Amino acid sequence: MRERAVGPVLMNGVPTDPADAAVSVFDVGFQRGYGCFETMRSYEGSLFRLEGHLDRLQRSASNLRIGLGDLSLLASWCTQAARGGDGVLRVYVTGGTDASALGTNNVTVVYLEPLAEIPSSVRLDLLEAPWHADGRVSELTGAKTMSYGPNLAATIEAWSKGYDDAALLGNGDVVLEGPTFSLGWVTDGVVFTPSLESHILASITREATLEVCDRLGIEVSVGRFHKDALVNADEVFVMSTVKEVMPVTAVGEVALVPGPCTARLLAGFRELVAEETS
Ligand SMILES: Cc1ncc(COP(=O)(O)O)c(C=O)c1O
Repeated sequence: MRERAVGPVLMNGVPTDPADAAVSVFDVGFQRGYGCFETMRSYEGSLFRLEGHLDRLQRSASNLRIGLGDLSLLASWCTQAARGGDGVLRVYVTGGTDASALGTNNVTVVYLEPLAEIPSSVRLDLLEAPWHADGRVSELTGAKTMSYGPNLAATIEAWSKGYDDAALLGNGDVVLEGPTFSLGWVTDGVVFTPSLESHILASITREATLEVCDRLGIEVSVGRFHKDALVNADEVFVMSTVKEVMPVTAVGEVALVPGPCTARLLAGFRELVAEETS
């Protein structure tokens, strides 16, 4: 098995050998997926948009009524773990072991994962996502909770059909997002992406990519779009902390080639990262 963590795992800030880092089987994070998490990128030891990620974690935790404690302390654990170099920083906050007072006695886990080999493109299956909020508001709307079972199941279904991952569709075949990434596409030089009103995750990479479009003078259209818009696009790409901006080479049965606009967006995104992390 590949190495899981660069350096120690911080358990409530306490450096712990990865082999000994464990959460109780009585924690509702384990038992019910009741908790929240964040995934950030460390570029040579510097975190991209730490503040944005911590803001989102704070929103997720307050939706779940989990007390995060001192955010500046959590930020210091993140920067400490990121010093391990290039990698993916994982932060998990569990619901705790006291079922009568959920959100107290919780455990915060922070560690840096080595970068896995990242493919240069991705092939997407089109899948319906009946569990997705898609505009319906609930207690957990917008929260990045540890209950990612339906998202993982969609990825596994896509794998079983020979794809790398899934593009999720909501009511009326509206394009939403991927299980762990946002979606964008290019038609006639305009970049399209689903709007946050569909309650897709407020992706940090999507936001940064829209800033890149602004910088490059690329027209953007944000809204609710039918899957036909995606299937008939000139270029399709995914956006996430781990994948950055990555071309899509298949959407269902439609084959695509990585296009020039996606390449410009990736270059622009990397420039933004270099400016903010150097
Ligand atoms: C459902 C979903 N959408 C989009 C994203 C991309 O978000 P970010 O750019 O903040 O990594 C993620 C990331 O995990 C996700 O889980």
